[in-house]
Amino acid sequence: MASLSLDEKLRLLHGATDPDDSSVGYVPPIPRVGIPALRMVDGPMGVRAVGGSATAFPASVALAATWNPRLAREQGASMAREARAHGQNVLLAPGTNVVRVPHCGRNFEYYSEDPHLSARFAAASVRGIQSEDVVATVKHYVANNQETNRYRVSAAVSERALREIYLPAFRAAVEEADVGAVMTAYNRVNGTHMSDHRPLLRDVLKDEFGFDGFVMSDWWGTESSVGAARAGLDVEMPGVTFEERATAERLPEDVDPADVEFPETLPDMHEGGLFGEPLRDAIESGAVDESVVDGKVRRVLETMARFGLLGADSDGGRRGGELDTPRHRQLARRIAVEGTVLLKNEGALPLDEAAAVALVGPNADAAKLGGGGSSEVTPVARTSPVDGLRERAAECRFERGVPRITESSLFDAFGAGDGGESTADADDADDDASLDAALEAAAEADCAVVVVQDDTTESEDRDDLRLPGRQDELVSAVADAADRTVVVLRTGGPVQLPWVDEVDAVLETWYAGQAEGEALAAVLYGDADPGGRLPLTFGRRADDYPTAAPERFPGANDEVDYSEGVFVGYRYFDREDIAPLFPFGHGRSYASFEYGESSVERDGDEVTVTVPVRNVGNRPGKEVVQVYVRDEDPPVPRPPRELKGFETVRLDPGERRRASVTLDRDAFAYYDQDEGWVVSEGRFTLLVGRSAREIRDRVSVALG
Ligand code: GLC
Repeated sequence: MASLSLDEKLRLLHGATDPDDSSVGYVPPIPRVGIPALRMVDGPMGVRAVGGSATAFPASVALAATWNPRLAREQGASMAREARAHGQNVLLAPGTNVVRVPHCGRNFEYYSEDPHLSARFAAASVRGIQSEDVVATVKHYVANNQETNRYRVSAAVSERALREIYLPAFRAAVEEADVGAVMTAYNRVNGTHMSDHRPLLRDVLKDEFGFDGFVMSDWWGTESSVGAARAGLDVEMPGVTFEERATAERLPEDVDPADVEFPETLPDMHEGGLFGEPLRDAIESGAVDESVVDGKVRRVLETMARFGLLGADSDGGRRGGELDTPRHRQLARRIAVEGTVLLKNEGALPLDEAAAVALVGPNADAAKLGGGGSSEVTPVARTSPVDGLRERAAECRFERGVPRITESSLFDAFGAGDGGESTADADDADDDASLDAALEAAAEADCAVVVVQDDTTESEDRDDLRLPGRQDELVSAVADAADRTVVVLRTGGPVQLPWVDEVDAVLETWYAGQAEGEALAAVLYGDADPGGRLPLTFGRRADDYPTAAPERFPGANDEVDYSEGVFVGYRYFDREDIAPLFPFGHGRSYASFEYGESSVERDGDEVTVTVPVRNVGNRPGKEVVQVYVRDEDPPVPRPPRELKGFETVRLDPGERRRASVTLDRDAFAYYDQDEGWVVSEGRFTLLVGRSAREIRDRVSVALG
């Protein structure tokens, strides 16, 4: 620190153009004193290697649907190994914003509508990433819950909702997993841009949560020099203008970077370097004291030191690691299987080995790797539903049925210019899409499997929750023609299912990554139990969701009103007593589970609830025992039940296991504007079940 000039200090506080063009974000080295480069790469579902390949894991929502945080930890470690193999030392993951709005284009990159489930996964992912000496970056801090107008929208959100719903996952990343970096969101919170938000950056994140890493901005998401510097932003990313960053080989030949116009939902990328000259000027004018800059540099250097980067070769590239190895491929498959949610099954699944299958769907011959945007990953290998079923079925005929669904890619915005491959489908005519052929195949087969999908991407929200194109029509027509119909949903969040009563089974596989086809085949044939449970609510109608009112989404006059408060997701459906189509925590298994009587043990402030679970089915299966807490006499309006613990058990037929969940005092608390966290004395009920609406037992506890 003492030997660094002011220029050198400022060089550490904003990104620069990467000479190797191999990083999404790059902070240059200072070889003179053994300070290496910081090399940053996306993303939450696998390494978005600039021009390279990596393991394409299932979407984060699929990972959360496993309700198995150990898988998040393993996935984090795997992605970190792949980041190192690509010479990177900072991974821009996990994304953990709460799924507040079912239409949000980035729900697939996040975990859940529930803060407890989100926090378990965020902490596990950070632990995994950092176990391989790569810096994790929990994002996007905070209340980045929609893509519409994301650079200007201000979330008008109460302190209580921030504390109980939107901050817990970030708090867990810091307090439980000691995350090395936090990325600020583009949006404003209560009128102030997050890069300039002193209360949430300095007072809450750094002082109260004790975050000692560094805060970086989202790309071109820094609002000011002085405001951000004073508020607690440490590193401005990417730190340079688009022109400075764009390299000719990654932009179409005839495109001059200075002429690139960006869509409304992208920031003005012609702005950059706010923590360069403008910050130097602010120091020289006295607007910002140099000690403030020193504090930022210290955070960057101490984080580098913590991850063994100081003294590393100046490139900072932690070579080693591993890429596309069998264990990474196997993990991608396992997450896809365990994240598959069996929403409905009336005797159609598992498929009979000898069954003749009609596989129908506009995009079923392409793996649904993920959604559009900075999380896009290019795998070495992938299997589509057609690949998986052709490999596994005794007989399989594939028909598209209706025209392909376009897949959005952020990189369509300006060509493939930023390292991502446009996943927009080839524009070859859909002359092979014939509904008649699909119906003929369905009528002749023993079972029809219809694979349908939505199209979600960063920087855009969905207009409505229906499946795009003519997919609903296709499902209904096939259901009429076939003896049995199984629908496979490949969606990034909740969708409307108008034909749900017409079909025999529905699987939700989300965006299942590179192993999609083999995982789908394994579940369809019962080689594996569909282990997933919904991490978010499927409503019956679009109006049933808490954000149905336009002022709550997409908002008006650059403001979105979080007036539902803490009643997000199932908390809202429960308070309003609205029957969901499929409730939070829901998921069938090929096995059947019987719950015995729950018991409660007290140990000081801790309450442990234990329940015996037996597999009374004839197949092995996985059960997720969920524990919800209800305050029977709340002094303030509280949700009728809130998830506060869960335990996953795997049971063979006839096997019985005791599942235990321990709750600490925080599990009973609510946040009061004036008093902070409060645990009201009185009676609580612990609801033990297999979803928010499928409660198997209740136990009463009194807190003194
Ligand atoms: C994007 C995303 C962020 C990503 C970053 C770098 O705009 O909001 O999640 O890590 O820019 O690609």
